[in-house]
Amino acid sequence: MCGIFAYTGNNGKNAGEVLLDGLSSLEYRGYDSAGIYLPESGIVKSTGAVSQLRRKLPAGYFGKSGIAHIRWATHGEPTEINAHPHKDCSGNIWLAHNGIVENYKELREKLTELGHTFLSATDTEVLAHLIEEHLKVEKDFERAALAALREVKGTYGLAIAYALEPEKVIAARMGSPVVLGLGENERFIASDASPILKHTSQVVFLEDGEIAVITPTKHDIFKLDGGRIERKAEKIDWNVEAAQRGGYQHFMLKEIMEGPEVVENTLRGRLLEKEGLAKLGGLEGVADEIKKAERMIIVGCGTAYYAGLTGEYMLEEHAGIPVEVELGSEFRYRHPVLNPKTMLLAVSQSGETLDTLEAIREGKRRGALTLSIVNTVGSTIARETDAGVYNHAGPEIGVASTKALVSQLTALSLLTIFLGRQRRMSIETGQEIARELQAIPDKIRSILERRTEIERLAKKYAKARDFLYIGRKYNYSIAFEGALKLKEISYIHAEGCGAGEMKHGPLAMIDEHFPTMAIATSDSVYEKVASNIQEIKARKGPVIALATEGNHEIAKAADDVIYVPKTIEMLSPILNVVPLQLFAYYFAKEKGYNVDRPRNLAKSVTVE
Ligand code: M6R
Repeated sequence: MCGIFAYTGNNGKNAGEVLLDGLSSLEYRGYDSAGIYLPESGIVKSTGAVSQLRRKLPAGYFGKSGIAHIRWATHGEPTEINAHPHKDCSGNIWLAHNGIVENYKELREKLTELGHTFLSATDTEVLAHLIEEHLKVEKDFERAALAALREVKGTYGLAIAYALEPEKVIAARMGSPVVLGLGENERFIASDASPILKHTSQVVFLEDGEIAVITPTKHDIFKLDGGRIERKAEKIDWNVEAAQRGGYQHFMLKEIMEGPEVVENTLRGRLLEKEGLAKLGGLEGVADEIKKAERMIIVGCGTAYYAGLTGEYMLEEHAGIPVEVELGSEFRYRHPVLNPKTMLLAVSQSGETLDTLEAIREGKRRGALTLSIVNTVGSTIARETDAGVYNHAGPEIGVASTKALVSQLTALSLLTIFLGRQRRMSIETGQEIARELQAIPDKIRSILERRTEIERLAKKYAKARDFLYIGRKYNYSIAFEGALKLKEISYIHAEGCGAGEMKHGPLAMIDEHFPTMAIATSDSVYEKVASNIQEIKARKGPVIALATEGNHEIAKAADDVIYVPKTIEMLSPILNVVPLQLFAYYFAKEKGYNVDRPRNLAKSVTVE
């Protein structure tokens, strides 16, 4: 998730200042590098945050229009060369991009054959050269941009500048948000309204497949086929912070709501449904070692550790690989036995968690093949492992990890197909998992649409001082994750427990004041969990059951039911975790806590 911002005006303002100021309010979207281009003053790029970019601006950096970008790397390390805006060969076309160009390899090959020279490792740069190529035929900036975008597969929120028409900036949207701001003799393009609000509250939201051409006094919107669109401006009353949160009260809720797109982004270009295969480009460099590997150890901390536990079940059942899962903080001190046929897989949102990083370093010293599933491109774990898979979930701001887990589970499912098809998984199973994975985003959407029911339940139970979460098999770890979410933002005692373990101790805690969240979706262990619910009810414990749509029986046993759509057992954790995240969110909100910044915790734990 990067941020784009563009400006054109004729009221004496310095576009350079306007853009830098606006980029700062987009920094929550990314912070690894930034860049700015003014046709009148040229390009300046820098690694790091906007303050570093500001320090690099030469004296007299001035212009009436320009485009700017704050990057959160997806393709290519966070270096100055890879920072946006990117240009074509002539140096006249410049663009800032938020999204992923899926067919960039094909486009890059084609354009290279046509004589274009590329400077960066990004997917974005092809877009500038593609427009340049079309400009040769179309002889018109707008028509060239339209023709180029019709060839692009993937997602984009774009701001495109052309040095020969400096007053004009083109915006385009496909899957990544773009807002136009309409001021007095000035127009803006941005990834969200936060950098615009200081200047105007009149905005127009672009839809997918639309481009807009802005000049200081005008904005014209077109479909990709060239057809003109009329859309009225809207007035928005949000403040800057609310705009960054997309109008949600907290980043945590915004990030839970991003679940469907996060799954789509993690899967993008990686599933070959017909062949029942997964393509993981990041692992290609170690393909031989992976084929020869005999076991895997997954390391992580907190939520990432729970993702690993679910991964263990996926990989052992469907890929036939022996898997162990370890907390980073334990692994590094216990003399693990490893060899080159051991894959050590780190799962980490930040890629900076010290315990996970040290586990990887320990694994390297002991000769293991080190792999990673990491969200932050260019982070230490991503750099230090031999190969890896990026999540493409976008930055996660809320301390409670939500969308990252959804993405980690998706990536582990891809890894299961990838490794499974090299080993014992049939093409039919590969196809079935791929098909079901593709249906997950819509199923998450349907859970999110019913979030007010979960809010009502959270309010009903918000006075509880203890909470038990039970689950089994694939949802064993999800019970622990549900409890972690609740305790870290609500500060109450919440405990995860394997449903089968209840009678070995935890059942003693149950009475009418001790509620249980029971993950009882329809799968191979459903009957067992249903019996556990009966045992709890027999001790007067209140029960909320998480069940599969259509299971009306369970409503007779449990006090309350949260329904989720059906999917295959292996993928059920991806759906089941979403209502648990929402429940924890609304529970903490009801208690009046700052859900995005829980006490005593930090987003990234870079100390022991
Ligand atoms: O960045 P990482 O995924 O390595 O972080 C691991 C844990 O610190 C993290 O998941 C933590 O448990 C979250 N606060 C849980 O919501």
